[in-house]
Amino acid sequence: MTMFRSGARDTRRPGPAPEALRLVKVRRTYGSAENAVTALDGVTLSLARGTFTAVMGPSGSGKSTLLQCAAGLDRPDGGIVCVDGKELTGGGEAELTRFRRGRVGFVFQQYNLLETLTVAQNTVLPLKLAGRRVDRNRAREILTSVGLGDRLGHRPDQLSGGQRQRVAIARALVTEPRVIFADEPTGALDTRSARQVLLLLQEAVRVHGRTVVMVTHDPVAASYADSVVFLADGRLAGRMESPSPDAVAERLAHLGDDMPVGV
Ligand SMILES: Nc1ncnc2c1ncn2[C@@H]1O[C@H](COP(=O)(O)OP(=O)(O)OP(=O)(O)O)[C@@H](O)[C@H]1O
Ligand SMILES: [Mg+2]
Repeated sequence: MTMFRSGARDTRRPGPAPEALRLVKVRRTYGSAENAVTALDGVTLSLARGTFTAVMGPSGSGKSTLLQCAAGLDRPDGGIVCVDGKELTGGGEAELTRFRRGRVGFVFQQYNLLETLTVAQNTVLPLKLAGRRVDRNRAREILTSVGLGDRLGHRPDQLSGGQRQRVAIARALVTEPRVIFADEPTGALDTRSARQVLLLLQEAVRVHGRTVVMVTHDPVAASYADSVVFLADGRLAGRMESPSPDAVAERLAHLGDDMPVGV
């Protein structure tokens, strides 16, 4: 294997890298032989800290695979993933789990809350799993910040979809992760609840300096982000800064024909 020589990069300042996320030639293939599907075909991408990025593209273009690989929930077959300047690829399973618990938060389309736990217990679960001390007030504080300070003792099945997703966001934020990944977080929500969720993600970036990467099919949702990264057939197919819903919809129309109808 080739070694990086100094000169290729600045090694004088050992401080933390300014990038929140870096992917270099990331490949992910599912299945084998004639059944093989290349979900990611050499994706190279760099996202700065404190940015909100939307990932868009036709169904099957590799968006979820990209997020899962970037978050350490899945392993690429090739390439490098760095979160917050630390390489994720290459380590063992235990190391990966520790890494994920410390630096990454994930929000799913279907919330993935544990139905037997209360809202407060769901929210602080990542702290417990990471073996971190759970301050009694932490759940209240973070749930209040997502507008659910009065729901601590409720179970998920007593909440609306939008409220559940806000619990999931509180859970993703509770460890103060560097990067929050969200895979179609508004996909199951009505317009009003979706807006609340998008504003919370935006606030995580603008107020708390976190980095958010969000997959969405909705050009309006994407317009809450600072930029959009487009995927097609497992490859990067462009990037757009300061996206407007119209500009995003227009670009999507030229990416593929099997795109679900947006807003
Ligand atoms: N576990 C798996 N086993 C086999 N193939 C898979 C698996 N997961 C994903 N794929 C394939 O990889 C490709 C990319 O899938 P992925 O889920 O990343 O797409 P996506 O862009 O998130 O699509 P959608 O918008 O429908 O959620 C698809 O062709 C899919 O069928
Ligand atoms: Mg997906």
